Amino acid sequence: MLLSSRVKGISDSITMKLNEKAIQLTEEGKVIYNLSGGQLPIKPSQEFIEKIHHQLNFLKSYQYSPSAGFPALRKKLMNHFIKERKLPSEIFENDWDVCLSNGSKHTLYNVLGTLIDPGDEVILLAPYWVSYPEMVKFWGGIPTVVKSNVYDAFVPAIDDIKKAMSPRTKVLIINSPNNPSGVHYSEAWMRDFAAFMHEHPDLVVISDEVYSDITYFDPKPSYFYQIDHSLLPRTIMVQAISKTLAATGLRLGWAIAPSSVVAGMGKIQSQTTSGPNSLIQRALLDFDFNYLEGFLIPVKNHIRQNAATLREKFREAGLGHCWYQSSSAFYYMIDFSRTPMFKRFSPEDDHSYAIADELLNDQGITVVPGSDFGIPNSARISLVIEEVPFQEAIVKIVKYLSRN
Ligand SMILES: Cc1ncc(COP(=O)(O)O)c(C=O)c1O
Repeated sequence: MLLSSRVKGISDSITMKLNEKAIQLTEEGKVIYNLSGGQLPIKPSQEFIEKIHHQLNFLKSYQYSPSAGFPALRKKLMNHFIKERKLPSEIFENDWDVCLSNGSKHTLYNVLGTLIDPGDEVILLAPYWVSYPEMVKFWGGIPTVVKSNVYDAFVPAIDDIKKAMSPRTKVLIINSPNNPSGVHYSEAWMRDFAAFMHEHPDLVVISDEVYSDITYFDPKPSYFYQIDHSLLPRTIMVQAISKTLAATGLRLGWAIAPSSVVAGMGKIQSQTTSGPNSLIQRALLDFDFNYLEGFLIPVKNHIRQNAATLREKFREAGLGHCWYQSSSAFYYMIDFSRTPMFKRFSPEDDHSYAIADELLNDQGITVVPGSDFGIPNSARISLVIEEVPFQEAIVKIVKYLSRN
């Protein structure tokens, strides 16, 4: 059957192929260390689970919600955001709203559909989350990538962003804390970014903040709109329960945005998916966000511990130059290009996939190749697995990277 050019224009995730191989090797009895996970391997906070149980008793939990979500929950999420980011509530009294969707991937997709026309350019800051370029392309937009690497701490230079701007640039996506690097942009960077936004008064910024609660070294993430409130009317903040509440499968994300954007997203949702899961929305409405801090303490301790293990093992092996200290989210990015193992490869090409494939075949370790994130010759390592297997996996990676 002839498929649409829209679908043909979207890349398959090459990571899927590695995952399939990992499953096959596990079935053959090989021990596989899965360092590719993008989710916490634990259940959500018990208080949240109890709220879900409770809401099972009500008819409304099984029925359609409004397309953009239940108004009371939208209000609660807006108030929580204003409090967390220490913003003046008056700004949000008029012309602001929240649109809930089936996970923040769905939110981002609908935000882009609301904002961009075919041919519009969208700036992505590498390393970027895998799905951004494909979502932009799906709506007919053109992704423009601004690069960074391990040597500049995975933080793109504002000057490079300036150079990437063109008369067709409509939107820029910021993801801080960042998947895959595990870094968040500093307050100084955000200040410069705010100044840059003033030079481009038509630019709209999507701030993907799904990891903002998972941060385990100070200073905590801050945002350009906290520094300059006048930038808020052209900013869309994206959040979710997936990472913060360890609830990736429950599918709830949302955008905090000017009302016109929320109305656009609501229109798309009303003709496609309808409103998101009523049961989970009602449980979240009932959930006290104060429980989050306690829930996340052991999670952060665990990630910090695994990050320290990685750092120590790499340092001991003289590989200190090929990682950058992460401080948030639950990932670490390793650069292969200056490791002994890399001498076999041509430095001008990207071998991330081949190296990830070798790591799986030789050492039984799955990582996500950096090519998925716009960073050649690198890989993302997830810090979530238990300490002992994590240590074993890092020892194997170090052995592999140190080999001539
Ligand atoms: C940066 C970033 N944004 C958005 C998402 C989407 O998360 P979800 O759709 O589960 O809310 C992810 C998931 O990995 C992510 O890493």
